[in-house]
Amino acid sequence: MRTIPKTAIRTAVFPVAGRGTRFLPATKASPKEMLPVVDKPLIQYAVEEALAAGARRLVFVTGASKRAIEDHFDSDQELEHMLESQGKSDLLNQLRSVLPSYASCIYIRQPAPLGLGHAVLCAQPAVGSEPFFVHLADDLIKSDVACLAQMAEVYAAKNASVLGVEVVPHKDTEKYGIVAVEADRSATSRVKSIVEKPKPEKAPSNLAVVGRYVLAPAIFEHLERIGRGAGGEIQLTDGIAALMGEEAVYAYRFTGKRYDCGSKLGYLQATVEYALGHPSLGKGFKQYLKGLDVEAAAGGRPARATPARRKK
Ligand code: G1P
Repeated sequence: MRTIPKTAIRTAVFPVAGRGTRFLPATKASPKEMLPVVDKPLIQYAVEEALAAGARRLVFVTGASKRAIEDHFDSDQELEHMLESQGKSDLLNQLRSVLPSYASCIYIRQPAPLGLGHAVLCAQPAVGSEPFFVHLADDLIKSDVACLAQMAEVYAAKNASVLGVEVVPHKDTEKYGIVAVEADRSATSRVKSIVEKPKPEKAPSNLAVVGRYVLAPAIFEHLERIGRGAGGEIQLTDGIAALMGEEAVYAYRFTGKRYDCGSKLGYLQATVEYALGHPSLGKGFKQYLKGLDVEAAAGGRPARATPARRKK
């Protein structure tokens, strides 16, 4: 029998209620979390990372137009039978591995778009009084060891909440929760303060929280109490600031590369780099990129013909 270590974190929360307006019209009828990076939707990368970190209970906090996420993690008997009868066993296996049988999905509807803190609070009945992961699928992280698994180790060592952080350009502080830490250069350091989306001139540092959190269950009491913050929303950042009044919170600089798939440019970068690393597509795609006349393609012109080599 598989034994679960005492410190194992069993639950991952995926706030997926946001409308993804930056990707309209692509996201008009389809959730932004279903945008594919090469051949898997963003939300599947998210689930795979949480499973790799030991999560077994997957809690999706959903909103309008998010049915496709439920369908994606549901089994599709009709499609499976069709692939089986056509002898397409590779595709069938890929389909069946979308969600392993030991994992379970819970869907909770966020009644109104009141912010990330509110979304996390909506997950409380499914999380209970255990520590849990929060994963924002927009932030795609490529790493050898899953980012949440790295953070679960820090949680086990410190027995305190952990925020995944990275250095960002100073001008970008107003896109993130920003932390000030005790030891600037260490991978793991206690957080001294946290503020949501400060202007560069007001930011306590340029160490930004990306979409990865391990949170102690005490966060829920604080999320219940805090009011609306930046942008008129109930901010997770403000809940964390309140939690820090009572217990330690750590920032952890993960090992890996983050792609901001909430922006079109970041999404394109992820697509190119995941395609280059893809086991069956990578080689062909690399050849294609090497031969691409970037300027001609950007101008919509056919590439200049390369002079044919003369036969000797
Ligand atoms: C959210 C959080 C912010 C965090 C960011 C990471 O902001 O509120 O603190 O730094 O995710 O991606 P959003 O991107 O939803 O505006």
